Amino acid sequence: MKIKFTINGEERTCDVNSTTRLLDVIRDDLKLTGTKEGCGKGECGACTVIMNDKLVTSCLVLAYQAEGADIITIEGLVKDDEMHPVQVAFIETGAVQCGFCTPGFILATKKLLDENPNPTEEEIKRGLSGNICRCTGYKKIIDAVKLASRKFLETKRGEEVEAE
Ligand code: FES
Ligand code: FES
Repeated sequence: MKIKFTINGEERTCDVNSTTRLLDVIRDDLKLTGTKEGCGKGECGACTVIMNDKLVTSCLVLAYQAEGADIITIEGLVKDDEMHPVQVAFIETGAVQCGFCTPGFILATKKLLDENPNPTEEEIKRGLSGNICRCTGYKKIIDAVKLASRKFLETKRGEEVEAE
């Protein structure tokens, strides 16, 4: 069957069968390999994407369920060759080691800060609870979210001052 959806702002059509996973469409058909496959069972968060404004583990979504959806993958965060502030914060704090978990963590962080720009440490831990990292020990990832939050709030304050 054919499905049509928007991914990173582009409309795409793919041919899938009833058991094709969204993760396979993203990685194999569309070659957006920033989205990773870890456990394949919804437990590690490596395959996280944003679909219709919600975080989903794309290994657990059947491709036909994405009919008409609006999807953002890690590749969609780069605009005009500039990385998203959350990506910059992860690099600046050294929160990326092997990098396998990083796209999922970054999308989960983006979603968290879009909804709550100034989260407490507890809220950060809860927001990232669907993602597992085997390298960093999490401290630097939490530091990255705090830095991204500070950058976001500074930008917002700057915009408010300019508007006055
Ligand atoms: S690969 Fe999807 S949650 Fe682990
Ligand atoms: S940086 Fe290696 S799994 Fe997280």
